[in-house]
Amino acid sequence: MRILLNSFGLALLALLSTATVQQCGKPAITPKTVLGSDGRVIGGQEAVPGSWPWLVHLQMDRDGEKRFDCGASIISGKWIISAAHCFVREDNCMGELCHKRLDTDASHYKARVGQHRNSDGAGLDATARDYPIRRIIIHELYNMAKSDSPADIALLEVDGLISFTSVVSPVCLPTARSDPPAGQSCVVAGWGETIPQLAKLKSVPLSGHSKASSTVVMQVGVDIVNRRTCNSTQYYNGVISDDMICAGTAGKDACQGDSGGPLVCKDAAGAYTLEGVVSWGEGCGAYQKPGVFARVGHFIPWIEAKSDINSGSPAVSATVQLCLTVLLILSALTF
Ligand SMILES: *[C@@H]1O[C@H](CO)[C@@H](O)[C@H](O)[C@H]1NC(C)=O
Repeated sequence: MRILLNSFGLALLALLSTATVQQCGKPAITPKTVLGSDGRVIGGQEAVPGSWPWLVHLQMDRDGEKRFDCGASIISGKWIISAAHCFVREDNCMGELCHKRLDTDASHYKARVGQHRNSDGAGLDATARDYPIRRIIIHELYNMAKSDSPADIALLEVDGLISFTSVVSPVCLPTARSDPPAGQSCVVAGWGETIPQLAKLKSVPLSGHSKASSTVVMQVGVDIVNRRTCNSTQYYNGVISDDMICAGTAGKDACQGDSGGPLVCKDAAGAYTLEGVVSWGEGCGAYQKPGVFARVGHFIPWIEAKSDINSGSPAVSATVQLCLTVLLILSALTF
């Protein structure tokens, strides 16, 4: 009996160690550095395949119409974060004016993980896998009538459990109220347009379907812009709210097709943390028009309330730990 319990305890110990071995924010494949030798951020470049392992290629398929519009980020085996505006459907357009509604029918979307090439042109990469979506939760304060709406964030529950590999793993969530300081160097990754549209000075959500989309994952280093500066008359003239982060300078920005994708910054321990979700901007890489991101730190209480994710250790490993302790005590008592 004692031997049986002890081996059961050992098995649980093994289970516990495999459950906690999956670290967040630590790519198995080292990303290209975004800093030049002089320490300054350099422009956009192709990412090393698999080096942003939390990056998701969101697939839309409704009524036979297949499209890729958006990126997203894996935060656990079950949950993905993207932008709310990725789920706005436009139809009955009269010129520029379209009828808008939210399409949160989960059967219309799939999460492609482990993908490097843009699926628009190419198929599924050998390392990639599609997961069906079970549920789409749009933030209640998101207002689709505004292209610069606050709360541009969405949670996607995956049907099943994402298997983590060397090219598929989660990003870390920031602590509640996290707000990266002005000047911090961070990185945006995605399949967005690589041609800056400097002339297009119109506030647009960064999701439009575009022929200029990149054929592979691109990364660009961006510096966080002071929120007050970003909200000033010369920049975005009062539309920047507390739940937004501005980042990027002229020529270095997120662009259409990057929407919903990650803005990651390294934390003190060297782990990549999801500080922002690509949201909107005027033009791309334009002067005094940085990219605007949903500030994930602001939404941590919302994320915790809507999902089973705790910013501390996952509930499952706490349960396993408790079982293990009880069993070890039991096996000790059988001596
Ligand atoms: C940006 O400016 C507007 C208008 O002055 C103001 O209402 C808003 O609170 C400001 N945002 C922040 C984050 O300070």
